[in-house]
Amino acid sequence: MQSVWLFGYGSLIWRPDFEFVSSKVAWVDGWTRRFWQGSHDHRGVPDAPGRVVTLVPAEGERCGGVAFEIAAPNVAEIFDALDYREKNGYDRCEAELSFEPAANNEIASTKKGIFYVANKSNFAFLGDAPITRIAEQIKISHGPSGANADYLLNLAQALRELEIVDEHVFAIERELLQLER
Ligand code: BEZ
Repeated sequence: MQSVWLFGYGSLIWRPDFEFVSSKVAWVDGWTRRFWQGSHDHRGVPDAPGRVVTLVPAEGERCGGVAFEIAAPNVAEIFDALDYREKNGYDRCEAELSFEPAANNEIASTKKGIFYVANKSNFAFLGDAPITRIAEQIKISHGPSGANADYLLNLAQALRELEIVDEHVFAIERELLQLER
């Protein structure tokens, strides 16, 4: 068995709580990040779910995140733990990851990778809503993993540090900061 690449586009970006061999910025084509998944177990509670990100199919778009290379002997244990942590509606999905070229004239390399997606048929899916509504829900939601607002702010900050632009995330962040003033 070889090492496996895990693509993180949410909390894994700023808090990977597993051992990995290497990590780098990566992109998945045909997907976009959205705060459309309800969180009953991490950033909210069953009666008042928070909102966390999932990936949504989007032709012509791409989502930036971080790919982590997991050594072969650790693969089963790490994915078992993630399957359990993300049991609130997420499934594993396999796709081609593109890595940033080292220089502009180099062709980006690709590798198969795995990521977690909560599709629209899962019980916790909330779907689209106006940006203001999403920010309001995030502002008031808290769960066993902490404040939903911290999840959003940490994600936005991590994306900026990686120079990944995500207008959906940044627009909700702006709205949240406005609500908190
Ligand atoms: C992540 O990529 O950070 C992630 C998102 C949803 C579920 C599990 C991991």
